[in-house]
Amino acid sequence: MATQRTLSIIKPDAVAKNAIGEIISRFEKAGLQVVAAKMLKLDDDKAGGFYAEHKERPFFKDLVGFMTSGPVVVQVLEGDDAIAKNRELMGATNPKEAAPGTIRADFAETIDANAVHGSDSPESAEREIAYFFGADEICPR
Ligand code: PPS
Repeated sequence: MATQRTLSIIKPDAVAKNAIGEIISRFEKAGLQVVAAKMLKLDDDKAGGFYAEHKERPFFKDLVGFMTSGPVVVQVLEGDDAIAKNRELMGATNPKEAAPGTIRADFAETIDANAVHGSDSPESAEREIAYFFGADEICPR
């Protein structure tokens, strides 16, 4: 299996629940390594740019409003098959459909406030990592 990097965001609802440590612990226990991390308060431009591909969707305004409602923790996770592994740990976008034991099943309430984001493809991961981190902020181990 190839070593990959993926972008993870712990969203404002999970930060407000004081669940940062528990969520990162799940990544680490699954064999993913945190190779970059920072806490940020996104503004409309930064959040809107991140979700630009969804800007025509009916939920875009709510999504940007939610992502700017409080601090987030962005991380780069590295490991074997990191993109799929992270999405498996996260569970389905809608927490009501998320498998038991996944992060969204355990920490998310609604599709609007769903605890975590994870890149969905190698192309997204590359773009999303570069959106938040410079090369000098990533520390391979
Ligand atoms: S798609 O069609 O597969 O690209 O869309 P999806 O991955 O399901 O969702 C993209 C992101 O939008 C968020 N989302 C919503 N936010 C607010 N309200 C509603 N109804 C809603 N539906 C989807 C969803 O959480 C995704 O955010 P990320 O951060 O990518 O997980």
